[in-house]
Amino acid sequence: MDTNLDPITALKSDHEAVRAVLNNLGGYLKKISSVSSDGLRNNLINQLNEITAFIDRDLEIHFKKEEEALFPVLGNYIGTETGPVHVMLIEHKNSRELSSEFKLKINGYQQSKDFKPITDIGNSFIKLLSEHIDKEENILFNMADIQLSQNEKRGIMLKMLAIK
Ligand SMILES: [Fe+2]
Ligand SMILES: [Fe+2]
Repeated sequence: MDTNLDPITALKSDHEAVRAVLNNLGGYLKKISSVSSDGLRNNLINQLNEITAFIDRDLEIHFKKEEEALFPVLGNYIGTETGPVHVMLIEHKNSRELSSEFKLKINGYQQSKDFKPITDIGNSFIKLLSEHIDKEENILFNMADIQLSQNEKRGIMLKMLAIK
């Protein structure tokens, strides 16, 4: 990530990667209910495991960039106890809870052979995170763009670069 980059642009580029993964996830969830062979279904389970690895690593880093770098500074202007930052924090928590549950259902598949809980929770996760990203881009990031000074943006960017 480029130090000269605007932090909002950088976060939007993370969102693009997340959207692509959610799109793949949606495709796998649709397929899993229609494939007939156990072998194909096991392949899909492996692909879902790769997606949960992305969620645990990359999405978690993205959330931390927002929680530890952007939100505290933006919070100086619009608060963190109520309002949009507060709502985003709740949605991060809900997303983490859903993804833990999603992993449990995937791990339970070999015993239960029941893919319905996987598709139900997976689809809830897609809905939550897509709407979350839309809200950030349409509301929160616009506020940040207007409120934050160049210096603050640079400070946020530097902090984001240190989060791994
Ligand atoms: Fe977020
Ligand atoms: Fe985000």
